[in-house]
Amino acid sequence: MGDERLLRRAVPVESFGTPELAALLADMRDTMAHLDGAGLAAPQIGIGLRVVIFGVHANPRYPEVEEVPDTVLINPELAPLSEEIEESWEGCLSVPGMRGWVPRWTRLKYAGFDEHGRRFERSVAGFHARVVQHECDHLDGILYPMRIRDLAKFGFNDALFPGQDLPREE
Ligand code: NI
Repeated sequence: MGDERLLRRAVPVESFGTPELAALLADMRDTMAHLDGAGLAAPQIGIGLRVVIFGVHANPRYPEVEEVPDTVLINPELAPLSEEIEESWEGCLSVPGMRGWVPRWTRLKYAGFDEHGRRFERSVAGFHARVVQHECDHLDGILYPMRIRDLAKFGFNDALFPGQDLPREE
């Protein structure tokens, strides 16, 4: 947080199936795995393209976490399926060691392209919907602290959740 590359609007990918795109995705997957993240957007590694990845799997440490399939989402479009908003804790790999209480649409439809340029769409809810919104915000230069309504609910993990294992950052 504070790096101006995180505040820019990323530009659409125009060519699919290229070595450059494959290399970017490999770099993003490595970074996400190394940092043990739930998702990552290209601007988080300094690349201003509209590319995000995410995925969450069952882990005995976090039995309450909802699973999200491993996904590559390029040039995404998001649309809410209802006006319902839900607030929950979020963390971000670009704001390490902190959590904030962030409002998000509860249910939404998203569409975009995979790495081969195949279009797909999904209707999702809950944590899946939250992760997508968090990652796609990165493409518009928005970090989750900018969305917090009550800054009393923004702080360091150790202070907010002493001694707890927390879900992964995005
Ligand atoms: Ni993030």
